Amino acid sequence: MKAWRVHELGEPSAVLRLEEVERPEPGPRQVVVRVAGAAANFPDVLMCRGLYQVKPPLPFTPGVELCGEVVAVGAEVAEIAVGERVLGGAVLPHGGFAEFAIMDAAQTFPAPRSLDDAEAASLFIGYQTGWFGLHRRAGLKAGETLLVHAAAGGVGSAAVQLGKAAGARVIGVVGGAEKASYAEELGADVVIDRHRDDFVQVVKELTNGRGADVIYDPVGGDVYQRSTKCIAFEGRIVVVGFAGGDIQTAALNHALVKNYSIVGLHWGLYNTYDPASVSECHRALTTRAAEGLIRPLVSERLPLDQIADGVQRLADGKTVGRVVYAP
Ligand SMILES: NC(=O)c1ccc[n+]([C@@H]2O[C@H](COP(=O)([O-])OP(=O)(O)OC[C@H]3O[C@@H](n4cnc5c(N)ncnc54)[C@H](OP(=O)(O)O)[C@@H]3O)[C@@H](O)[C@H]2O)c1
Repeated sequence: MKAWRVHELGEPSAVLRLEEVERPEPGPRQVVVRVAGAAANFPDVLMCRGLYQVKPPLPFTPGVELCGEVVAVGAEVAEIAVGERVLGGAVLPHGGFAEFAIMDAAQTFPAPRSLDDAEAASLFIGYQTGWFGLHRRAGLKAGETLLVHAAAGGVGSAAVQLGKAAGARVIGVVGGAEKASYAEELGADVVIDRHRDDFVQVVKELTNGRGADVIYDPVGGDVYQRSTKCIAFEGRIVVVGFAGGDIQTAALNHALVKNYSIVGLHWGLYNTYDPASVSECHRALTTRAAEGLIRPLVSERLPLDQIADGVQRLADGKTVGRVVYAP
């Protein structure tokens, strides 16, 4: 089979190689799928660079979330059958940017019928992260104001839709006009182009000086620091990631004086500490997808030979919406 593989660490376009390799075999609690869609995520970039908390052994195939058809199941997998259409997380080194990939049975879920393969491939990491961040960690309530940074990105776009589905007023921050149109299409009530406007000032104007109740921040660095200037009394800033490249430190005296919470989020840990909640979340997402409340907006469906270029453009902050390998 064909697979993109990383043999040494560096920028995705420099280190990803398309190769002919053996089809992988499942371990006892794993399944092998024929990949029907694999969405590009920032962690794929960080793994190529060797900067992600998970460091797969070299050589590895990236592609951390996918949708596929089960073609083989491990000896101890009774709950999933060959032929099923599933989505979930890949087990690296056998990720989704290949013709076949390996999934952990515990992180394999039925793909919703209401979504096509590329959309279903994008329903796992971003939406699960958004669900746990907004509901479980930040306790977002209907009528509250939610500010989402990188609102046209992978986790940001999911947070926009989930915020709207929860009845919040959603303000999305994006870089550039093309991303602004995309965030509007996602359903954001107000979109701020950070290249043109100062989000702190706009949020204050829109909330009569009060600030946003919840701020969802996958960018970090200076974006976090400026977010503390427009967080509401009893607001919650969800620390999701550091796509901007700088890991900020928090001024706790400021959190005390302004009475807000800084909420860390590591979605992957729910798979370890509370796997039942991940299944419950998947059921809730499936229902919302069937109701038409959420739908991943796939902007690029790329053949296998073009996905490395898509991952590099994601690394450079140039992609708009979900970029998916779609065979
Ligand atoms: N906490 C968790 O459990 C969890 C789960 C999944 C992902 N994450 C993290 O969330 C972050 C976002 O991941 P993603 O896959 O959704 O990526 P993404 O949003 O598709 O891409 C990053 C976006 O960040 C913005 N950005 C601002 N400054 C940037 C810079 N200097 N370089 C690159 N991008 C910059 C850009 O959007 P604009 O130009 O529109 O601002 C860019 O499109 C990553 O750090 C990832 O590791 C965390």
